[in-house]
Amino acid sequence: GRTVRVALLGCGTVGREVARLLTEQADELAARAGAPVELAGIAVRRPDKHPELPRHLLTADAGALVESDVDVVVELIGGIEPVRGWLLSALRKGKSVVTANKALLAEYSAELSEAADAAGADLYFEAAVAGAIPLLRPLRESLAGDRITKVMGIVNGTTNYILSAMDSTGANYAETLEEASRLGYAEADPTADVDGYDAASKAAILASLAFHSRVTASDVHREGIAGVSSFDIAAAKALGRTVKLLAICERVTADDGTESVSARVHPVMIPRSHPLAAVGGAFNAVFVEADAAGELMFYGQGAGGAPTASAVLGDLVAVARNRVLGGRGPRESAHAALPVRPHLQT
Ligand code: HSE
Repeated sequence: GRTVRVALLGCGTVGREVARLLTEQADELAARAGAPVELAGIAVRRPDKHPELPRHLLTADAGALVESDVDVVVELIGGIEPVRGWLLSALRKGKSVVTANKALLAEYSAELSEAADAAGADLYFEAAVAGAIPLLRPLRESLAGDRITKVMGIVNGTTNYILSAMDSTGANYAETLEEASRLGYAEADPTADVDGYDAASKAAILASLAFHSRVTASDVHREGIAGVSSFDIAAAKALGRTVKLLAICERVTADDGTESVSARVHPVMIPRSHPLAAVGGAFNAVFVEADAAGELMFYGQGAGGAPTASAVLGDLVAVARNRVLGGRGPRESAHAALPVRPHLQT
């Protein structure tokens, strides 16, 4: 069969692992996709800073790489502009997009999905939420016949790493944050983690999928962990509790019976006996409640290069297979979206 040509945008913590796995597991990926999956180019800001990568694949011109003869664009740069323009352009030309870009999806997933649908292209983003944990496909596909009422859990590895360390060893906040950055968990600008922006973006993505709604990051009430002191952690401990940063997305019914979606991110003191209290390090865990399914729990590594690359590679195999066999990925059907309940501005 024909070769599926892949453009890789960004080669940081996750991109490096994707490039490595694509090369090392080329034969297995080809077997699963039904055609060879070939890295056609890698866009990085400074090609001279990447002696470990094949020189002929490197370019500083991401826009040109997207417009070149590639079938799939894997975007691991992050941020909204100029990435949004590149991905829209790729989708409009019928190229499939795999992205881990939480901030972009939390703001523009409607625009991106519409562009994908109009051109018959695929848009996959499993790696955008909860790293290695298969969570978005279950919400979109496995639970499509059920009625989800709540999605709640730990969706930011960096803050969980910090809170867990503060709880277990009384470690200092700033030092632990530095360690989380060194381990490749934190965002390039870690204020996105500690101030809850990263978790709020993920909550918006989860709520949109779970409730067939259009929730953006600004719809999510957000409070980070910057205000959580070692005193708070000790006080929680004395009460048999621990502090976790939770994302909570719910279907709420008003007195008059009208339904809406509410989403929030804030630190919560949870009992030490709660399963979420046992989630340590950069792990994530998400509970999903649905009418027929009851309660489900998803658990695994939510941050870091290899775990996130696992989700990217899974998406890449899916879009490659769709191109080879002629399928399409999950889409939202056109319908009246469940409204979002405005939160109280703080
Ligand atoms: N900075 C993010 C986190 C990476 O700590 O969870 C995974 O999205």
